[in-house]
Amino acid sequence: MAETQRHPFLHGLSKHRGAPPTVVVIFGASGDLTARKLIPAVYNLGVDGLLPADFFLVGYGRKAIPDEEFRTLAADAIKEFSRRELSHDVWDRIAAHTSYVAGGYDEKAAFDRLAAHIADLEKKLGREVQTLFYISTPPSVFAPILQNLGASGLAGKYLGQAHHAKVIIEKPFGKDLASAVALNATIRSVFAEHQVYRIDHYLGKETVQGLLVQRFSNAIFEPLWNRNFIDSVQITVAEEVGVGTRGGYYEQSGCLRDMIQNHTMQLLALTAMEPPVSLDAESIRDEKVKLLRAIQPLALGPDGDAARAQYAAGMIDGKAVPGYLQEEGIAKESATETYAALRLSINNWRWQGVPFYLRSGKRMARRVSEIAINFKRPPGALFAEGDRFNLATNTLSFQIQPDEGLSMILNTKVPGLETRTQPVKMNFRYATTFGSNTPEAYERLVLDAMVGDGTLFIRGDETEASWKLYTPLLEAWAKAGRDGMDTYPAGSWGPPSSDALLAKNNHVWRQP
Ligand SMILES: NC(=O)c1ccc[n+]([C@@H]2O[C@H](COP(=O)([O-])OP(=O)(O)OC[C@H]3O[C@@H](n4cnc5c(N)ncnc54)[C@H](OP(=O)(O)O)[C@@H]3O)[C@@H](O)[C@H]2O)c1
Repeated sequence: MAETQRHPFLHGLSKHRGAPPTVVVIFGASGDLTARKLIPAVYNLGVDGLLPADFFLVGYGRKAIPDEEFRTLAADAIKEFSRRELSHDVWDRIAAHTSYVAGGYDEKAAFDRLAAHIADLEKKLGREVQTLFYISTPPSVFAPILQNLGASGLAGKYLGQAHHAKVIIEKPFGKDLASAVALNATIRSVFAEHQVYRIDHYLGKETVQGLLVQRFSNAIFEPLWNRNFIDSVQITVAEEVGVGTRGGYYEQSGCLRDMIQNHTMQLLALTAMEPPVSLDAESIRDEKVKLLRAIQPLALGPDGDAARAQYAAGMIDGKAVPGYLQEEGIAKESATETYAALRLSINNWRWQGVPFYLRSGKRMARRVSEIAINFKRPPGALFAEGDRFNLATNTLSFQIQPDEGLSMILNTKVPGLETRTQPVKMNFRYATTFGSNTPEAYERLVLDAMVGDGTLFIRGDETEASWKLYTPLLEAWAKAGRDGMDTYPAGSWGPPSSDALLAKNNHVWRQP
């Protein structure tokens, strides 16, 4: 049955967001992200008819890979990772325009070869195309790639005209304020801000975009969206997985850098920002930056606004799993946190006095990302707590993943002759209403960058505002080493110090 027949709400959605003729160049094309996300994203855009008619894919990397082998690798990646099966109809058309250029990331001559390769594609096509550079390498080579795009003239291609060069930059965007400022400076020495698309794939998730629609298209929320009605906000980004084989990478990063500073801060900004004057990229990003700048500096030290911990051995899905310090590639005395919790205060008219709690961790009880808005209790004692009156605070929660949707906890009367109350949950689930074949975040983001819509990407000043908040904490943690590092059993909801952070305000973490 056609998807629109099974899910009538899909009727009327526009499928046509015309991207101009484009060549997408992926740096790091032999890597994990390219295989798992980028090639499948390009393929699925092809399936949906959203690639421009003149579309070219160019892989770039240090390893010499013949064109034909790169096409085979790409087809294999689609078979393994795409949400839809490989259709030769679609793939053969993309494959005919897929090629590979080998070269170093700091090798200017190789970038000249890349420029000549693109010029050659254009010559055969008989017209100019925009170039979208996707930097999908480890961050150590972000700067040389950017500099060589500048030196070879590729960054300035057609600048100022409708079609020009654009660049998508993967995370991590710096490791503290100084490195983010330096990376922004390198970018700005080569590209204008409107050419730059700093990715946070969380923003490409359907539910994160849904949050904007739900907040601003339903008149019932805005009057309540402030300190008069909201008691506290909890944002959770919990993973069930441990560090696995990525211990070496994680030791340099930790939870605050890997999750809190980027993903949870984006969720916070979209939840708490003022209504933008329009839905264009700059209006939304202006409001997000304003909000990030209104967050008070964190109180540091044992009674401060943050808790950190490492997972200890525990049980996940009935299986025993090792603690962080026993994982492969982890230093025995590691001071890298696998869990972080924060209490943030936003000093503006709307939010003063409302605590925003953020937490993220690995090896938690289950994989879940959600934003929970806890409303104040109603006044008076019509229904005092007691045996007959089981009452909960109203909580509106946006489930980002899994079970994407929106739910609301309300108190209601239990049917019967006496008045008893009980909290109930009203649930909206995207999969039930719209079907579950939702585009992957990377599909949306690659298409947006091709079309030139920066709304779901992070502007340079946003990255710096977020790092400015967290750099003093990272420095304090680095200085303290393992002092103050708590632990939590794998498969639990976090350490006692994180509960204590909320207990100061008589709050408790929700169990999502
Ligand atoms: N994988 C994910 O799920 C994921 C998720 C979110 C963000 N990211 C970000 O996306 C980027 C790419 O991730 P990835 O997992 O695909 O990385 P990766 O597999 O480690 O590296 C991608 C490619 O970069 C080149 N490369 C690797 N190490 C290098 C080094 N030390 N110096 C120069 N080149 C090197 C290699 O290509 P050649 O040897 O052919 O040059 C490699 O195939 C990273 O910035 C990562 O943080 C990844």
